[in-house]
Amino acid sequence: MKDIKQKVTESLDGFNPDIFPYLPFILQDLWEMGADPATVTGLMERNIQKTGLKVLDIGCGKGAISVRIAEKFDCIVYGIDFMKEFIEDAKAYAKKYGVESKCIFRQGDANELIHEYQNLDLAILGAVGPVLGDLYQTLERIKPLLNSPGFVVLDDAYLPDDSKSEYKRCPHKTDFFDQIILAGFSVAEEVIFSRDGMEDDEMEMFIKMKNRVSELIAKEPEKKELFNNYLKSQEYEFQMLATELETGTWLLKHTK
Ligand SMILES: C[S@@+](CC[C@H](N)C(=O)[O-])C[C@H]1O[C@@H](n2cnc3c(N)ncnc32)[C@H](O)[C@@H]1O
Repeated sequence: MKDIKQKVTESLDGFNPDIFPYLPFILQDLWEMGADPATVTGLMERNIQKTGLKVLDIGCGKGAISVRIAEKFDCIVYGIDFMKEFIEDAKAYAKKYGVESKCIFRQGDANELIHEYQNLDLAILGAVGPVLGDLYQTLERIKPLLNSPGFVVLDDAYLPDDSKSEYKRCPHKTDFFDQIILAGFSVAEEVIFSRDGMEDDEMEMFIKMKNRVSELIAKEPEKKELFNNYLKSQEYEFQMLATELETGTWLLKHTK
């Protein structure tokens, strides 16, 4: 079982957990850190008719998805993230967008907290990776918390079946869908992202992180290697996204 700091570091594309305390500083210029809010709300609009939605955003980061959902839908959104600085930012964004009464953010390990949330209409897994185990285990753990019908928004990636890549963070396509089906979910709708424009967005994010890393190196030069290695792992992730990985957002449905 991996240490929570290791897992959170990996969900933010790092390898070495020594970078963990520096992540809020390096990522301070980003609000959206994973899923695309417009894609998520579009999937919801087209597929979920119910009002008074109860939503749980697992690994909500700075609330980029939660706040947009709260703006658009009659709902209450609970958000959990292990990074206390991200939760502080999420609360500030909810206030800024006038939805603080609809967003309840909480710091902690989702593995320990999710069972406290019941009768959910929707759970969000926005670029969180294997947060509660692998994809099958994560969905299995969410399933008992859902109403019927219950939905999961999954923002994730897979390797094409014929890929020979050594990349370990995502399953191959067939395995990805097998895990979803085995956990008892069907795909209500999928949005697959085109690579066009992806590189520009990634470059913008990368430059922001690089500038913050330069500041850290100036302050703590003895940790230069640690900081630069984090940038390298980000660069590798971006390169995989631009070349090999298929990325998308899936609305999964479970009916009891
Ligand atoms: C790539 S970010 C995505 C943030 C957000 N979902 C979004 O799409 O903008 C992954 C987030 O998952 C959080 N995370 C990973 N494992 C977690 C866990 N076990 N408990 C709580 N948060 C976790 C990290 O702290 C990080 O904020």
